[in-house]
Formats: sequence, structure tokens, C-alpha cells
Amino acid sequence: MGSKARMGFGSLFFHYVLLALFVASSYGETAGSSSGGRSLAQCNLFQGSWVYDESYPLYDSASCPFISKMGFDCLKSGRPDENYLKYRWKPDGCELPRFDGKDFLQRMRGKTIMFVGDSISLNQRDSLACLLHAAVPDIVVSSDDVKFEDYNVTLSRSLAQYLVDIVPEEIGNVLKLDSVQQNAQGWLRADVLIFNSFLWWNRSNPGRPILWHRWDYIQDGNQILKDMNRTEAMAKALNTWARWVDSNIDPNTKKVFYFGIPPTHMHGADWGEPGKSCVGETEPLMAKTYPGGPIPQESIVRGVLGSMSKPVYLLDITFLTQLRKDGHPGQYNGGDCTHWCLAGVPDTWNLLLNAALLEWS
Ligand SMILES: *[C@@H]1O[C@H](CO)[C@@H](O)[C@H](O)[C@H]1NC(C)=O
Ligand SMILES: *[C@@H]1O[C@H](CO)[C@@H](O)[C@H](O)[C@H]1NC(C)=O
Ligand SMILES: *[C@@H]1O[C@H](CO)[C@@H](O)[C@H](O)[C@H]1NC(C)=O
Repeated sequence: MGSKARMGFGSLFFHYVLLALFVASSYGETAGSSSGGRSLAQCNLFQGSWVYDESYPLYDSASCPFISKMGFDCLKSGRPDENYLKYRWKPDGCELPRFDGKDFLQRMRGKTIMFVGDSISLNQRDSLACLLHAAVPDIVVSSDDVKFEDYNVTLSRSLAQYLVDIVPEEIGNVLKLDSVQQNAQGWLRADVLIFNSFLWWNRSNPGRPILWHRWDYIQDGNQILKDMNRTEAMAKALNTWARWVDSNIDPNTKKVFYFGIPPTHMHGADWGEPGKSCVGETEPLMAKTYPGGPIPQESIVRGVLGSMSKPVYLLDITFLTQLRKDGHPGQYNGGDCTHWCLAGVPDTWNLLLNAALLEWS
């Protein structure tokens, strides 16, 4: 229970406990209460199933100007099937609040929301921009940020695949497991921060061909290493990030999210269809558990968040995203089973973000 307490925001957890006790004693059950915030507070938003919903998608990708990578816009890339656009996430114990773009912008007035991490962060930022643009189409856009001028709301992005710094030194580029200062310089300008870092840790090579995430060495304490166990490296980096959050974030003015481990669908064996990949998949997996089980690094994230003194909300999207083998660009973006079509699954990540922010305010 202790670690769970730290995973939600302090006050959210407090409500959860109070309401759960209240509902348990009054009605002899803890699920299914209908009155607004109460059911949300006691509901595990991340356990549920995907249901077909004719009213989806929540926006038309063709009219969203913020899809940064051609490959994310699957309709434009020629994907002919459209069922993948029509699934709504239904938590078992409650309804996910509807996304009201104008209300979101009003609540966030004057604030900057920043997505920090790899291209999955960009996927999520673009999705939120599209969701909001559908509600408020006539806005001005400035360079890298998406700004909703009338509401003074900025959606920003900080590219930091490993969260920790990569520093050019004489021997080459060094990935510094104990330093986040350089990347973090821009982070404090945000009011809401959503961090994500996993995919690059899980690669068998460090992506050498691509300049800005290239590293030649890893520095762990005083040791300079040619390579090391990437899972252990990730755990050390996350602890460095956690120390930064604990000493720099004032939870009264800033909200911090950690985006749970994003799954990929390269190996059909994970969902019981060995030999396949996401290519050609057009339906979600309808299951209460994922055959491939949790991703091992999820426990690292939980452990680090559980050890922190500042509240960080875990956007625990792994399971619900695992079910969406149909949500990737696949053959319409060079066999891409890592990123996500827009409209699509990232919209649900943002509905969950919205639900968490509603609870918070
Ligand atoms: C927009 O928000 C920022 C940060 O809260 C604030 O400094 C700025 O004055 C606001 N601008 C307008 C035009 O309201
Ligand atoms: C890397 O470390 C993790 C966690 O300590 C361990 O489970 C895993 O087996 C290690 N991997 C290799 C290739 O040694
Ligand atoms: C992590 O890497 C391993 C080994 O390459 C791979 O089998 C696994 O699917 C990857 N996990 C994710 C979630 O991408």
C-alpha cells in the first residue's frame, strides 16, 4: 500500500482511501458508485477493456495540422481499415470522463504542458494538440511549441530519450547516468510535466547512426564503460531523474506524471500469434490480461516512483496499450510497430491525463 500511496498524488490517494472506506461501509462495495468525482477517485482507470464506439475517433486526422511525423497519420499514409479508430477505453469501475477541449483549456489557462522523452512523447503531444484543435480550431502556432493563444496554453516537447544527459567529451559522447542538469534546463518552465523513457534503453545498440541520441560511452559514477546492462542503466538514470524531481518540483504549483512503459508489438508470440507482428492487425485483443505479461521494466518504474518524496502520478498505460496491437502504423510506415496512429491510442493516454488533472484541480 505504501508504494501505491506515492504513485498517485497525495490528495488523490487520500480521497481514494476515504471514499473507499466510506463506500465500503455504506454500501458494502467499493465499485460502481455513480456520483461524479467519487466514482473516478476510487476507480482504477487503467484496468478495463476496449469497447467499440461509433462516435470515435475524437477528431479527423486530416484536419489536424499538428501531426509531426508523416507516419503517425495512418489514413494519409494509406491505411484502409478504420475500426482501429473506433475503440473507447472503458475502465471496469467507472467511465473515463469525456474530453471537453474548451474546458481543458480553461482549466489549464496560462500553463505550459511539456512532454519529455522520446518519439512516443511526440506521439502523445501531437494527439493532445489534435484533441484541443478539434475544439478550438482557429489558433496560432509557434515553431516547435503548439500554443493555444486565446487560452495562453502551450504544449511543449523536450527531446530526451534517456532523460539523463549525453555530453560530448574528448573520448566521444558520454551518456551520464548521474546527470540530468543539461536536459532539465527547460523543464522548469512547464507547469505540467509528462516524462517517458524506455524504448532507447531497451535497444540492443545505442542508435549510433542518429546524431542527437548517439552515445559512445556510459558513465556510471566514476566509471566510464563501453556498455553495461541496459536495464540496470535505466534504473540508475530513473533514480537520477527522481532526485531531480524531489529537489526541484513544488507540488503546489507543478504536476509531474510518469508515462508507464510503452509496449511495442513486434512479436506476435506476446499475444498468442507467434510469427506475426502488428502488420495487418486490425482489431484489439479482447482480454483481461495480456498473454505476454507485464513488461519487466514496469517494476523498475514502480520502485523508483515509490521511493520518491514528491508525488508523481503514474500514467499506467502499459496494459491497455498492450491490447492495441492494431493501433500501430505497421506497413503504412515501414513496418512500424512502435509508434501509434493518430487519431488512435495516444488519444486515450490523453483522456487519462485529463482524468488525472481533473482529480487534481
Ligand atoms: C501567459 O501565461 C504566462 C505564464 O503564466 C504569463 O506569464 C503571461 O503573462 C500570460 N500571457 C498572457 C497574454 O496572458
Ligand atoms: C540485466 O539486469 C537485469 C536486472 O538486474 C537482469 O534481470 C537481467 O538478466 C540482466 N540482463 C543481462 C543480459 O545480463
Ligand atoms: C525489449 O527488447 C527485447 C529484446 O530485443 C524485445 O524482445 C522486447 O520486445 C522489447 N520490449 C519492448 C516493449 O519493446
